Formats: sequence, structure tokens, C-alpha cells
Amino acid sequence: MSDRYSQIVNSLPGRLIAGRVGLPQPTPLERHRPGAPVLAGRALLGAAPGGRLAGPLAKALADAGVETATVDADELRSAAADAGLDAAIFNAGAGGEQRFKALVFDATGIADSTQLVELQRFFHPTVRRLERCGRVVVLGTPPAACSGARERTAQRALEGFTRSLAKEVGRGATVQLVHVAPKAEGELASTLRFLLSPRSAYVSGQVVEIGPPVVKKAPAVDWERPLAGKRALVTGASRGIGAAIAETLRRDGADLVLLDVPALASDLAAVAKALDAETIELDITEEGAPAAIAERLSDGVDVVVHNAGVTRDRTIAKMPEERWSTLMEINLSSEERIDDALLEAGLLRANGRIVCVSSMSGIAGNSGQTNYATSKAGVIGMVEALAGDLAKRGATINAVAPGFIETQMTGQMPIAIREAGRRMNSMSQGGLPVDVAETIAWFASPASTGVNGNVVRVCGQSLLGA
Ligand SMILES: NC(=O)c1ccc[n+]([C@@H]2O[C@H](COP(=O)([O-])OP(=O)(O)OC[C@H]3O[C@@H](n4cnc5c(N)ncnc54)[C@H](O)[C@@H]3O)[C@@H](O)[C@H]2O)c1
Repeated sequence: MSDRYSQIVNSLPGRLIAGRVGLPQPTPLERHRPGAPVLAGRALLGAAPGGRLAGPLAKALADAGVETATVDADELRSAAADAGLDAAIFNAGAGGEQRFKALVFDATGIADSTQLVELQRFFHPTVRRLERCGRVVVLGTPPAACSGARERTAQRALEGFTRSLAKEVGRGATVQLVHVAPKAEGELASTLRFLLSPRSAYVSGQVVEIGPPVVKKAPAVDWERPLAGKRALVTGASRGIGAAIAETLRRDGADLVLLDVPALASDLAAVAKALDAETIELDITEEGAPAAIAERLSDGVDVVVHNAGVTRDRTIAKMPEERWSTLMEINLSSEERIDDALLEAGLLRANGRIVCVSSMSGIAGNSGQTNYATSKAGVIGMVEALAGDLAKRGATINAVAPGFIETQMTGQMPIAIREAGRRMNSMSQGGLPVDVAETIAWFASPASTGVNGNVVRVCGQSLLGA
């Protein structure tokens, strides 16, 4: 689906007219190209006094080859030096025309509401220096892990700051809050790389939780091909978001098993041929489906992506039971049965991943979608319910919740609803299937050993829901 409006307002005459009459002017988003650096520019680091992440942060950035500058704070200067970062000192007053591709702030030292002013002190003089499609990452402590009421209150307050800043930055920039639990300080790498890079183009205003690793020793990964030697199952892979997930996981090195309904066998075969993948032609709601999938994956599987899903919209007053049940079987119940079959047979390998596809509707609700929103909120419930158990098995489960994504499905919406869906977010545009796929690839990475139980929206910070 092409976004003609974006194309017009990004032409020179279109830009002039849109600017004059105050129409939304979506910035073309930068997206990842293989071999490109994590961050195409410099990152400025700041920290509230007493933070615990300066060292791990400097190390993760140095390993990722990110060029950095720091504000003039002792802890940051010495952490940067220890990590081997050649970090220049940035002085806001004498900063001249210096600009940054990312602003990264360690807020874990904020232990009282009176110290929240550290956010103002760092961002007030620097936010205008953020480049187009820049990145802001604020690191905090999960409020539940704080030791006292004052610290818990102050850390909870960070969420209001990052969600508001995400609405202010504009020009394709994104802002996230990353909660780093105690004992998870060494788990920053995969998440920082994702959030700083153009892979997270359409993810903004999110709160990401990083917990202790689910495996004792995180494997060393080739960051260009982190899934090399891994086997991934993707359901609903013949088109749309599922095909993009397959392409992205293949790019990252995975051997693929792609599943879709028998009616779409030829489309599935075309996707599989291009990606050198195996196929399973199967309706996941069939009685024998979980056993059949387990049988095909009897050698084990590293990554399971539950992408298959449908909409069957009607208001509840007009919703026949069959319409409700068909959808619930596809979007939720069959996923539960497949998980059970794979887990009971011990087929999810060590450091395995289950990744689910929820939806913004499952968070915010949507008129005409009681069935769909119920199923997609249920998917979030499944993530919450299984995260602890999977961590004990050395595996993770997470979900993406896409907002408006340009696919055949959204292309068929009536134009007024489609335009409203596209523009009602901080980026004034729809996302692409690859944006969902990149987020899934981050969850799927063997390096994401501390990323468990998350639901991350890929919605350009939609105005609907949190
Ligand atoms: N497009 C969006 O804006 C958007 C937004 C939020 C969530 N999502 C979710 O993303 C996922 C993919 O959506 P899409 O837009 O690519 O839709 P799509 O209709 O293009 O693709 C869905 C795929 O699932 C397959 N599928 C459906 N029922 C199946 C079954 N019983 N067994 C096996 N496969 C089955 C379909 O054949 C199809 O290939 C869905 O879970 C959807 O709910 C999409």
C-alpha cells in the first residue's frame, strides 16, 4: 500500500502548501540496511548522579561501535574511559552547532521526585540538537524493584516524561524508556542496538523491561546474522506481516519453517522458494494441528512466531457465535495449543523464543472489534502467564502490538478510516510490515536473554491507548 499523501507532502510544493495550511507532514523514516552502523551519527550520554548504568552503557555502546560524547559528569567520563570510548566532553553552553543522532540518559540515580529535575537539566539544552530520525533512550529502574516509596514514585514518573517527549520530538525521532532490573545490567546490548538503530523506526513512546538473563551464559552473537544455525517457525507467512517476518528472520540467518492455510499454498511456496524455507500447509485450528506441527519440528525449534490472525468485525449486538468462535480459535486458542504441544514434547530448544502478534486493539479496544480485541488482549495475557514458566526453562515469550501497518488488510479499509488510522500517531504515518518484523527479530535474537514478558507496540506512538 502506498501512502500517496506522504509522497505529496514530501515533494517541494507539497511541503510548502502543507506547512502553510498546517497539515501533518510525516517525515520519511530511516530504515535499516544490512551492513549499516547501529547509529549513523553521534550519541550524547548523560546521567543523574548516583546511577548504576554508566559502566554497562558505555561498554554496550563501545561494543556497538557507537561514537559518543558525554556531558561533563565524573561517573560518565570515567565509565567511558574504562570502556575505551573516545568520548568528547559536551558543554551545553559552548556546544556550538554540535548535533547528535541519539541522546541517552541514565536516570537510575533518581531516587526522589526532587531529583527529576535532572531530566530537565539534560534534555532542555540538548533536545534541539537531535537529528532527523534521532533516538532518545532513558534508562530507569522498574518501579517494583525500587527499595523505597520515594524512589519508586520518582522512577514511575519517568514514564510520563518519555511518553510526552516522544510527542514533542517530531521529525521521525523516537523516545523510549528502558527499565533495567537489578542484576540485568549486563543485558543491555541487544535492546540498545535495536532502539538506537533504524530497525526501531516505527516504535516510539514504549516502556521496555529488561530482566535478569534466562540462560546462565548468553551466547556470543554475530550481530549481522544473530539467528545463524537457528530454526524458526512463522505462522501466516504467505503474505503481509508474516512474509516480512520470514524475510527478516532469514536475513538474520534463520532456517525457516513457514506455515499457512492450504488455500494459500502457492503464495506460501513462492515466499518459501525465495527464502529457501520448508513449508507446512495447515489450518492451525484443525484438531490435529498442534501434533502435526510438533511432528514436523521433532528435531526442535528455536523461535516460534505466532503471526497468523484474522479480523471478523461486527459490533457485539450483530455478532453471531460462529463469527466470534472462528476468530478466537485462530487468534488465540490454537496458539495456546501449539505452545502446549511444543513445550510438553520439549521441542523448544535452550534459549528458545516464542513471539506473539497482538494488536493495538487488544490494548485500546476498538468499536466493532470486541472479538478481535478480546483475542489480542488474550495474547498479552498468554505472554504474562507464560513468561515466568518459560524463564525457568531458559526461554522467553514476548509480543508485538502493531498499530496501523500498511498491508492488504489495511489497504481494504474505507478511505476515511484508513486515513484516520494512518495519521493518528506521533509520526503521522502508517508503519511497514518490516517494522513489525524488525521488532520480532530483536525479541528472537539469542542475545535478548533478558527480554521476557514484554508487549511492545509498533504503532508510531498511536494516540489510542497508552
Ligand atoms: N495489518 C495491521 O495493521 C495489523 C495491525 C495489528 C495486528 N495485526 C496482526 O498481524 C498479523 C498479520 O496480519 P496481516 O495484516 O499480515 O494479515 P494478513 O491477512 O495479510 O495475513 C494473515 C495470515 O494468517 C494466515 N491465517 C489465517 N488463518 C489461519 C489459520 N487458521 N491457519 C493458518 N494460517 C492462517 C492467513 O492465511 C494469512 O496469510 C495478524 O495476527 C494480525 O491480527 C495486523
